[in-house]
Amino acid sequence: MIVLGLESSCDETGAGLVDVEGKRVLANVIASQHATHAAYGGVVPELASREHLRHLAPVVEAAFKQAGLGLDDVDGLAVTSGPGLAGCLHLGLSAAKALALGSGKPWIGVNHLEGHLLAAFLEQPELEFPYLALVVSGGHTSLLEVRGPFERRRIDATLDDAAGEAFDKVAKLLELGFPGGPAVDALAGGYAGADAVPFPRASPKDGGAGFSYSGLKTAVRVHVDKARRQGQDLDKAAVAAGFQRAAIEPLVRKAVESALALGLKRVVAGGGVAANRLLRSELERACLAAGLACHLSSPALCADNGAMIAYAGGLRLLAGQRAPWDLGVQPSLDECSAAC
Ligand code: KG4
Ligand code: ZN
Repeated sequence: MIVLGLESSCDETGAGLVDVEGKRVLANVIASQHATHAAYGGVVPELASREHLRHLAPVVEAAFKQAGLGLDDVDGLAVTSGPGLAGCLHLGLSAAKALALGSGKPWIGVNHLEGHLLAAFLEQPELEFPYLALVVSGGHTSLLEVRGPFERRRIDATLDDAAGEAFDKVAKLLELGFPGGPAVDALAGGYAGADAVPFPRASPKDGGAGFSYSGLKTAVRVHVDKARRQGQDLDKAAVAAGFQRAAIEPLVRKAVESALALGLKRVVAGGGVAANRLLRSELERACLAAGLACHLSSPALCADNGAMIAYAGGLRLLAGQRAPWDLGVQPSLDECSAAC
């Protein structure tokens, strides 16, 4: 089954073509809007919607060209219907409905998080259920027990900001530009000094369940403000390295602890922050030490993309599921619900 997947939940317009049973990406085209939002230091929803409108048709055409296929070769369509920015979701959903109506092909709405959770199969077809999934993106930070393509349970989640949001906010404080994750990753990765600024870990104060990024973010702000007030040279790399360590350490530790406690043998990481180099190396190291298999996708499949939506939706189409024509956008869909 070949499925075209559309993604437009935030600031990336993606179209992917996937051979679902073969777990193969045939095309994965992404138009990023980073340049549009950089001036504002964050995603401006109305501008994002307009960019999706501009990019959707060209990315679909480019995906077909990349795969050497046309709409006639496709067996179904999949589209992110939530969670995300309402206006942005509307554009992808409307495009998918129009393509489905015009072609008579079956279509399905997809939970964006389901795409992130299942993307690892596209590069590692040997992966098997069940596994522990760490989903870390601009909007989510969760640990889930994944028992099947449509069967999962939340184990842990952030109590306040998402991990990616914290990277973006710290990058803004350090004037590193937008999006902040890759900039912090680059600056921290190049920091050779031993004196990364010590910051509190991204865990709740009482040491209980969950993750917490608000205290860490405030600690960085206080450090930066103090240095600027006192006219000191701010060692941005030492701040970025200290923040990154404090942000990543609890994610890795709790992922491994949860997998072991649940008797799971595999850990999968997905979402934009799963492209972070420290997260990747630390998770691999911790999994190896604990006797767990670690499944990481390439950065292009960690970030928002249409191929992961095509694959997740394709599994639902194969199971006979179809979206109703009146399916609307679901901006607040939680990570465990089906999109339709
Ligand atoms: O999954 P994603 O592309 O979009 C959402 O669903 O939110 O994730 C985007 C987030 C942004 O906050 C971005 O700064 C972060 O992922 N990110 C990173 C890295 N690359 C992207 N964070 C840390 N290190 C990176 N290398
Ligand atoms: Zn995402």
